[in-house]
Amino acid sequence: MTGAPSDTQNTLREGIIELTFGEPDPALLALGLVRRAAVAVLDDAGPAALAYGSLAGPRTLREEIARRIAAREGRACTAAEVLVSAGNSQALGQVLTVLTAPGDVVLVESPTYNLALGIMRDHPVTVVGIPLDEEGLRLGALRAVLAESRTAGKRARLLYTIPTFHNPSGVCLSAERRRDLLAIAAEHDLVVVEDDVYRELVYEGQAPSSLWTLGGDAPVVRLGSFSKTLAPGLRVGWINASAGLLERLAAAGVLESGGCVSQFAASIVGRLLAAGDYDHHVAKLRRTYASRRDALSAALRQHLPAGCGFAVPAGGFFIWLTLPPGLLATELLPTAEAHGVAFAPGARFCSDGDDRSLRLAFSLYDEAALSESARRLGAAVTAALAGRA
Ligand SMILES: Cc1ncc(COP(=O)(O)O)c(C=O)c1O
Repeated sequence: MTGAPSDTQNTLREGIIELTFGEPDPALLALGLVRRAAVAVLDDAGPAALAYGSLAGPRTLREEIARRIAAREGRACTAAEVLVSAGNSQALGQVLTVLTAPGDVVLVESPTYNLALGIMRDHPVTVVGIPLDEEGLRLGALRAVLAESRTAGKRARLLYTIPTFHNPSGVCLSAERRRDLLAIAAEHDLVVVEDDVYRELVYEGQAPSSLWTLGGDAPVVRLGSFSKTLAPGLRVGWINASAGLLERLAAAGVLESGGCVSQFAASIVGRLLAAGDYDHHVAKLRRTYASRRDALSAALRQHLPAGCGFAVPAGGFFIWLTLPPGLLATELLPTAEAHGVAFAPGARFCSDGDDRSLRLAFSLYDEAALSESARRLGAAVTAALAGRA
């Protein structure tokens, strides 16, 4: 990893290979493309480039996103079905503000994206976790929780899910479960919030169809973002939803006051997409991250002791590693750091605190560093097991 500016969210420590952070490698951010697009926006639009934007966001960006969706995902889409956001974190906050009432139950996968749990904590809702397996969200468990909530007189209003290249587990919801989930949502009047942040980072074949694409008029809110492909610092993403839901989200007071939440950056992204450079850039990211994933997987197989288990993800940034019985990730972390490698313990992602697994992000380092990180991790797990014997 090279060229990190000093004001970034996460600081890397000297001597430790940090597999903790699920962020793009700064060396792969679209610096030249963004620079060119920003100059073009300012030169062409003049002061209008810096004015308040319309509530829905710059038309060029919405048209470009709609065009990409129609071409790549096979769902006819117009600019009217796209609401520009400041990325999925902001969009999730807006969805919770607009669509939940105090006391509502919000369902999440367990494990789930830990920082989404932080966004939920900002709202007076009760968060309930539903377990995952290798095909994604377990729908039997979802049905049971929906029935329990109803019996308790509580309203399960939203399900927040990451069905494609899940963070942290890397799994994809199977095609059959995607269809069944949409049926359950319709039956229970449950809004499905689909966090689709890793869709473009697919390393084998095609990413599975999104719930929103499959769902027609179903109550699905799909959140898309340019954070993982162009640059997280741009803070640009978008929301797709049925007309009724999109209208409610667009009526948020924060948009009425400030207009589009990321107007200038969104204009830059619109320009960049219209210039036709995006696909080439994303193709390079796919090759690079796939090679990093392969390097880490191969080295983990070589260096981890028996009893560890993981699946190779078909996309995204993460390998979810299960530890040998009796070893907890939070307890392992200091030993791992002493060996020069860090990770995110599973308890951070699990609503029930389950700590038998850990998340390894392979996005930030090159193949040689990732191989070395697996060697260090293997040594740390072996030492921790020996310490327990
Ligand atoms: C599942 C998931 N959602 C959202 C985000 C943040 O997205 P954004 O930068 O668009 O707010 C991340 C980043 O790690 C993520 O993994």
